[in-house]
Order: sequence, then C-alpha cells, then structure tokens
Amino acid sequence: MRHKVAVIPGDGVGPEVVREGMKVLKATMETTNGLDLVFEEFPYGGEYYLKTGRLISEDELEELSEFDAIYLGAVGDPRVPPGILEKGVLLAIRFHFDQYVNLRPVKLYPGVPCPLKGKKPEDIDFYVVRENTEDFYIDMGGRAGKRVEAEHQLKRELYRTKFGLDIEVSGDEIAYQIGVMSRKGAERVIKYAFELARAENRKRVTAVDKANVLTHIYGLWREAFEEVARGYPDIETEFAFIDAITMWIVKNPEWYEVVVTPNMFGDIITDLGAMIQGGMGLAPGGNINPGGVSMFEPIHGSAPKHAGKNVANPIASILAGKMMLEELGEREAAAKIEKAVKEILREGKLRTYDLGGKSKTSEVGDAIANKIRRME
Ligand code: IPM
Ligand code: MN
Repeated sequence: MRHKVAVIPGDGVGPEVVREGMKVLKATMETTNGLDLVFEEFPYGGEYYLKTGRLISEDELEELSEFDAIYLGAVGDPRVPPGILEKGVLLAIRFHFDQYVNLRPVKLYPGVPCPLKGKKPEDIDFYVVRENTEDFYIDMGGRAGKRVEAEHQLKRELYRTKFGLDIEVSGDEIAYQIGVMSRKGAERVIKYAFELARAENRKRVTAVDKANVLTHIYGLWREAFEEVARGYPDIETEFAFIDAITMWIVKNPEWYEVVVTPNMFGDIITDLGAMIQGGMGLAPGGNINPGGVSMFEPIHGSAPKHAGKNVANPIASILAGKMMLEELGEREAAAKIEKAVKEILREGKLRTYDLGGKSKTSEVGDAIANKIRRME
C-alpha cells in the first residue's frame, strides 16, 4: 500500500538518525511487495525557528494532516530557551493530532549490555502506555505577585542594618501549574492499554499514579481504570504508586507486561525504561492517535554535543520506523526491521559509542539496511 510520510528531521542528532531510519525504511520497501512509502521533509525545529522566528503554525499543522504518519528526529536546541521548541513544535503536534497514546516498548535485545545485574532479555520486555495529551502537560498555569528587584534589595538592606543578618529575601512571588485529567481522556488510553495486552498476549496491566497525595486528579484516574478493567476480566490488574514503581522496575522488571500511566509519570519512567533496555540509543516511541495521524520518534532528544559527528546510535530511530510500519498496518515489513536490528545487536560487531563501540551512525544504518536486503 502507499503511505505518505511527513519527515521532520529536527535538531541536533535528529537529521543523522532520521537519515538512517529512512535508509532502512527504503530497504524494507525494496524487499516488500506492495509497500510504497512516499516521504516529504519539513524543516521545523531550532534552526528554522532561529532563522524565521517561526515554530509550527495552524496551517502547517493542517498541511501535515494530509499525511498518513509523521517521522520525527528530535526537537531541542541549546540556543533556544527551554520550552519554546518543545511546546511550540513537539507538543503542538501531539496535541493538534490528539495523539493520546505515547507507546514506549521497553525491550532488552540479546547481546545488549544491561545495567541491571543478572537481568536477561526475557526479564525486560514490557510496554509503557503513557497518556499523552493531559495531566501537567496542558500548559495551564501562571505566576503572580512578582515584586520588583529594588524592593527585595531594600528589605535585605533593612535586615542587615537592623538585625545584622544577611539573608536572601524572597518576594511573595508564586507560580502554579495545573494538571487536568478528563474521564474520557483517562478511559481511552486505559482502554488502549488493555487492548494492547490482549493483542500481545500479556496477562497483567499495571496502572501508575500518586493517588495517595494527588487525590483529585489520580482519584479520577483510578476510577476510570477500575471501570475499564471490568470489561477485561481475562487480564490481571494492579495499581502502583509512581515512587514505588521506579524501585520495582529496577528490582523486578520481569513482573511488568503493560504499564499504563499519566503523562508526566510516564515521561519519567520511560527514561528509566530506556536505560534498562540498554540506553536512550535503543528506545523508540510512538505518539499514537489510533484513528488519526500518528508520529514516531526516538525518545532520546537532540543530544547537541554529539550532533554532526556521525556517532549517534540510529537504532532508536530505526525502531521508531518499525513502530510506524506497524501502525500503518505493514506488519511483515515491520518484522523485517526488528529482525535485522536484533541480528546486528546480537552479533555485536557494530556498536556506536553508547554501547561501548566506535561504529558510526551510518555504518549501523547501512548494516541494518543490507541485512534487510538480504532477507528472503
Ligand atoms: C519526551 C520528552 C518530551 C516530553 C519533551 C521534550 C517535551 O521528554 O518525549 O519524553 O516531556 O514528553
Ligand atoms: Mn522524556
């Protein structure tokens, strides 16, 4: 089938890893009957913002809706203050296309060094289903009561002369940020997690929260989970607090099968998940709207200090391409990519610096593409 893919290489190592990802996707296309991927590149990211002052507009988002999927490298540039590109490009796309599932498989492939003592590939193989459009990511908040600096200085002077104390005087400034959860928003992502468990033959779904403190927002989350779970009596369920689960994922990763989590906690545990599967260089993710346009990316960022050196590990990006093919319904082609990646990792001859080797980004991409070309 023909699929139109919008490619956003983005910042830092993004263009380098996306180049390898496309190389591999093209090799898959050559060897899979009927698979036809059409790529079109878009410039969004730090460089484009610095040159034009533009992030991504409503019209440009609309233009992307013509595509069947989006393939993204990374967004983030040290020359731009934090938050601008993240919110203005990455989150803008996630929210515009209502990509309410952030699917992040945590899978240790044979041959990959694992930082957890004694853990093997069969011990580390679960999915994190991260809610992707609500919680503390909705950008609702503000600051109030900002006092002028002169006033602080005056107070400080007063303390010093009156009491002989030299202390930092804080103003009455406050900041607040609101997390919002909707019942519908919670239900749909939880349902996705249960459906995934069924489709992948997993027996347990774990729900993450902090309902012992943030009772309003995660109280609703728990209720939604219990309600959805009733429709899946064949699947075991449990709740885990975010602090406890970070400990348990390190101690007993083999326990987990499908973990469903609110947005911010999911952000945190998927970096942990990436480390136990061999590092950020191996961890892909999909921002999925099951009925709309989804976006696939390596979950590592732009890694500016490694940019332009052809050293970044392209495997996370290549596996994001595999997830994209799965979402497009191209399972056979997706399986080829995973098989080739697995072989390269098992052989261990080609390794980028993050895996203790000296291989180049492009060497790893070439080797994976060649393996695919040699498959029957
Ligand atoms: C991720 C990233 C993003 C997030 C940032 C860059 C907005 O950390 O994809 O995990 O917090 O979701
Ligand atoms: Mn993150």
